[in-house]
Amino acid sequence: MVTNFLQKYHLQNHQLALPKKQFVTYALYALIAVAFLHYLLFYPAPASEKPVVVAQVQEEEAAAVVSARVDVDAHQQLLAPPPPRQGDEVLRNQQPKAEEVAPPPCDYSDGEWVPDARPPLYNGTSCGTIKDGQNCMAHGRPDTGYLYWRWRPRGCELPAFSPDAFLRWLRNRHLAFVGDSLARNQAESLLCLLSSRSPAELAYRDGEESRFRRFVFREHNATVSVLWSPFLVKAAEKDERAGVRHNNVFLDAADERWMSQLGAVDAAVLSVGHWFLLPGVYHDGGRGVVGCHDCADLNRTETGFFGAFREAVHRTLAEVAKRHGAGDGADGRRRVVAVTTFSPAHFEGDWDKAGACPKKRPYRSRERELGYTEAEMRRTVVEAVRAAADAAGAGESGLRFAALDVTALANLRPDGHPGPYMRSDPFAGGGGGGAGGRVQNDCVHWCMPGPVDTFNEILLQYILR
Ligand SMILES: *[C@@H]1O[C@H](CO)[C@@H](O)[C@H](O)[C@H]1NC(C)=O
Ligand SMILES: *[C@@H]1O[C@H](CO)[C@@H](O)[C@H](O)[C@H]1NC(C)=O
Ligand SMILES: *[C@@H]1O[C@H](CO)[C@@H](O)[C@H](O)[C@H]1NC(C)=O
Repeated sequence: MVTNFLQKYHLQNHQLALPKKQFVTYALYALIAVAFLHYLLFYPAPASEKPVVVAQVQEEEAAAVVSARVDVDAHQQLLAPPPPRQGDEVLRNQQPKAEEVAPPPCDYSDGEWVPDARPPLYNGTSCGTIKDGQNCMAHGRPDTGYLYWRWRPRGCELPAFSPDAFLRWLRNRHLAFVGDSLARNQAESLLCLLSSRSPAELAYRDGEESRFRRFVFREHNATVSVLWSPFLVKAAEKDERAGVRHNNVFLDAADERWMSQLGAVDAAVLSVGHWFLLPGVYHDGGRGVVGCHDCADLNRTETGFFGAFREAVHRTLAEVAKRHGAGDGADGRRRVVAVTTFSPAHFEGDWDKAGACPKKRPYRSRERELGYTEAEMRRTVVEAVRAAADAAGAGESGLRFAALDVTALANLRPDGHPGPYMRSDPFAGGGGGGAGGRVQNDCVHWCMPGPVDTFNEILLQYILR
């Protein structure tokens, strides 16, 4: 029986021998359909591929009960991101300024969603690169209200996305989205936004799974690629069919599948986090196994995943800085590395029943508190980016780091997920959603068009800075 996938779990982060701070125990209850999340996060393929078989999911009766240790000060310490400059000014003036630019009046990370009558720049008809699972309109999602909101940061305006401005910047450049399926979601959003002005051609894709793809905008000699690396560092992904239910993550080893391409990349947008919630064993070179999450079956001590996540992000950024500094950086190109912060899921009910994420409008500002896990994942990225930026600034490497801080704005968009419309006509045939019928829901990724387009509005402002 596939009942009760949705269970409470409770995370614990023993020190993993990594953090130095004092930790105290802190209970956390998050409602996530852990097993289904495996499936949602795993499948990275693009539009127009045949739907995946989900039987596997049913085997994954899950739910870890672990406990959590948490820095009590975490909530106080949520750090502001590197503050962006006012957007309009940016569009007018694309020259990089000297380091001593005064802090801008506000940042994009905090604000509210306000009604906006303007239609999206694309839809499932006009854009061919929407992954099937995120093509909500084409799949029959009946309500359209979720399309008519824009993010209004506290105290400043976020300029609407300008395909022209983005394409101008992208001319003779290569932008790579690297990471998990949220990276892919954001990449596909950008491809659609840009395609509203200039056609994108698929120039490369790897075999069946399309984990690595490259698109070009010929008129602009502009390249956008999507590179799969759900932990950013090297990992051996779990394989349920072979009886391996843990991801093995190698914190000391770069993932060369994308790192080796770094030299050709002018801007990288990294997205990582959700896969750390899955069962994992963390290795650190000569030290062997340094941590384990959801691994009672391996007779190992539970350490939680926060420490491993922190190491993976810090070490990845350090490696990027090192490689750009040595050789790559010598070509005088200015480069940007942005890390998208954690994008919260919104499961409210059983993942396989109608109404798993039923909201039809955004939360108002402060209406939904950020969960502990989400806040901690965000904070880790913001801190890692700050540390990398400080180190890069000292070396004058032409390398810029930015946190694309979308956690708060994403947290307020329970209405933006595909839910049952991850599949076409989910309620057709009488068996679906009503009265206890089964229907699978994606409350993790974002409909396209949808809130994920805002990630790219913000990316544009960071990139032009
Ligand atoms: C989709 O976009 C095209 C082109 O912008 C537009 O003509 C069409 O009306 C849109 N369709 C829907 C359902 O919004
Ligand atoms: C096209 O863009 C690439 C970067 O993606 C760059 O290396 C190359 O020099 C560009 N070609 C021309 C003709 O500018
Ligand atoms: C589990 O690990 C402990 C400590 O390492 C060991 O004493 C015990 O025998 C192990 N149990 C099994 C079933 O392997």
